[in-house]
Amino acid sequence: MDAIYLDHAATTPMHPDVIHKMTEVMGEVYGNPSSIHGFGRRARGLLDENRRYLAKSIGANEKELYFTSGGTEADNLALLGVALANKDKGKHIITTAIEHHANLHAAEYLESLGFEVTYLSVDEAGYVDPKLVINSLREDTILVSIMMINNEVGTIQPIKEIAKLLKEHQAYFHTDAVQAYGLIRLDVTELGVDLLSASAHKLNGPKGIGFLYARKEVKFNALQHGGNQERLKRPGTESLPAIAGMRYAIERIEQDNYQQFNRYKRYRDLFYQQLKQADLDFSINGNLNELAPTILNISFSNIKVEPLLMNLDLEGLAASSGSACTAGSIESSHVLTAMYGVDHPKTENSVRFSFGLANDEAQIIEAANRVIHVVEQMTTRLSEGSEINE
Ligand SMILES: Cc1ncc(COP(=O)(O)O)c(C=O)c1O
Repeated sequence: MDAIYLDHAATTPMHPDVIHKMTEVMGEVYGNPSSIHGFGRRARGLLDENRRYLAKSIGANEKELYFTSGGTEADNLALLGVALANKDKGKHIITTAIEHHANLHAAEYLESLGFEVTYLSVDEAGYVDPKLVINSLREDTILVSIMMINNEVGTIQPIKEIAKLLKEHQAYFHTDAVQAYGLIRLDVTELGVDLLSASAHKLNGPKGIGFLYARKEVKFNALQHGGNQERLKRPGTESLPAIAGMRYAIERIEQDNYQQFNRYKRYRDLFYQQLKQADLDFSINGNLNELAPTILNISFSNIKVEPLLMNLDLEGLAASSGSACTAGSIESSHVLTAMYGVDHPKTENSVRFSFGLANDEAQIIEAANRVIHVVEQMTTRLSEGSEINE
């Protein structure tokens, strides 16, 4: 029985061409970009070229891109970096209750330093109302941070609309675009954001590399100190193979004209149709027609997420609860809690399936069959009073 991977929102497999490109760079361009000899200059040339390409992929200037170890570091650099550099203008920050922990835990840390954070709520479909952003704005607000695509349910937030509303305010606008970069074409000017986070491992690139875009006027502090790399904002010898991998990952997608968006949507819709036809008792978290096509978060009535994921794994299907797993048990999702309220059954019976490069249509049908089989089996045992659903 072949294992099927439906957890692309957690991470994606690397594309073989990206691996090939990285291997080439690892073998051939090993100089340190800061060295002045020929080896160093060659590495510097490749680094600059990749930076230009990646900056262009979001409509930015190369001087506005800062390489980081991934999305978590980019989010931290945005939140902590901006807060520390602008505290003379105010100590109020606005974010949302459904952000990734890379953002939420950075915000909580800022609270411990004396900053005040407003966590905006969302509606039942998982949307942030732009009016709430405006109503929460204060004279001393220095940063608003709202994610573009939610990693648990796939809601796409109205970033452009919020950016317009913030135009006249001093607050910088950051978006965590980790789930969006590589899925949809992004342009920072069109979006109207000041800062944006991206990570390569969500787009079939390597783990451990990402970037923060910061518009050139944005004031932010470095969080670590060392050499002159990344214009002093993020010192440390650049991981050129990983940067080349990230560049090639997005170049592939651009050359394919972002066709994968429709491909993954077909997978998602096919999966949904198969479950629908089987007459299972389930509902989608979020509005199906407005979600990112890579993510489908499904609530199965009366079924607990932990044994469900375990049984799916035994059937060779990798999915996720989308939320943190601590000491072997799954915490209730903070995103679903924000959507439905504390202790709502949907916070405990929802599973995230996410689609991507590792899939094809035959696999999606097989995956749906495995879900149907497991859910039916669990439902039967539940009605018989067995402990499998405990
Ligand atoms: C929305 C979002 N932000 C941030 C991150 C963290 O990115 P990384 O794993 O590159 O640190 C993730 C990864 O799951 C994510 O989905």
